[in-house]
Amino acid sequence: DWTSDSFVDQSVKSLRQRLGNDKVVMALSGGVDSTVAAILVHQAIGKNLYCIFVDNGLLRKDEFEQVLHSYQDMGLNIKGVDAKDHFYGLLSDLSEPEAKRKAIGKAFIDIFDQEAHLIEDVKWLGQGTIYPDVIESVSVKGPSATIKSHHNVGGLPDFMKLKVVEPLNTLFKDEVRAVGKTLGIDPKILGRHPFPGPGLAIRILGEITPEKVAILQEVDAIFIGGLRKWDLYKDVWQAGVMLLPVKSVGVMGDERTYESVVALRAVTSVDGMTADWAHLPYDFLAEVSNDIINKVKGVNRVVYDISSKPPATIEWE
Ligand code: XMP
Repeated sequence: DWTSDSFVDQSVKSLRQRLGNDKVVMALSGGVDSTVAAILVHQAIGKNLYCIFVDNGLLRKDEFEQVLHSYQDMGLNIKGVDAKDHFYGLLSDLSEPEAKRKAIGKAFIDIFDQEAHLIEDVKWLGQGTIYPDVIESVSVKGPSATIKSHHNVGGLPDFMKLKVVEPLNTLFKDEVRAVGKTLGIDPKILGRHPFPGPGLAIRILGEITPEKVAILQEVDAIFIGGLRKWDLYKDVWQAGVMLLPVKSVGVMGDERTYESVVALRAVTSVDGMTADWAHLPYDFLAEVSNDIINKVKGVNRVVYDISSKPPATIEWE
């Protein structure tokens, strides 16, 4: 019978045996999977685990600083890297979703490669891959259809020649959370919604600019903050906001406005493969919509996405 305690015991033992005195490098995302994987490897080999957390300029508002601090508090040997300009540079003029994903994948590898080379004699790459990622990356690569190229699986360039260690690759998400709990990780971190690797880049439809990122961060913070305030956060599987490449006419005081439209998206799901739109209370939606339009300059209309997956997807790109 599987228990998280015995999983942790056995993993730590086998990681110690496998890794010995070797150094391991790991990129952390702030998400549940990479965090749990890192803490597990850290328990096994301590300071020989070198963690890298990249600010790609596409994270949620204040997320980089907050997550970096919580990693430091957990005792990880972690380096924060500000790579915003590199990502924005490679994304400039791109508007097609897969082109954006490719550029982000490349930017990430550039930065990771640069940082990994600073670690003398590193032998292993640690990854937070979980079982559904393994399945999905097989199906994404299959002949029938490339749905979306999830850039966080298999994106390692050959020349890095690192051996790969993926301590969670037999686990489902709920098992990963149970392991995280056993490891004593903050429940707030374990309860976080999934967030896509390409971040806000695939929630800004069309071209990305730092100004659009700033607008979307504000809107997203109001929506997510509202879900927490109304105690709805844990009832939805994932939530976020899309900044649409559409302007509409509004009125503010005596003035006509002509500003952007945002779409709120919140879904219920078990694994992200299928999803239903979350039936959030009208009073909640009304408050959030008012807050957004009153507080965020550049947005004068809020809509709520009522599409299920399939045939829609969770993200709009
Ligand atoms: P979709 O939009 O395909 O998303 O219904 C399913 C889940 O995957 C996330 N997602 C991604 N995650 N890289 C990621 O790491 C990606 O390119 C990517 N695209 C979508 C999405 O947020 C949802 O949780």
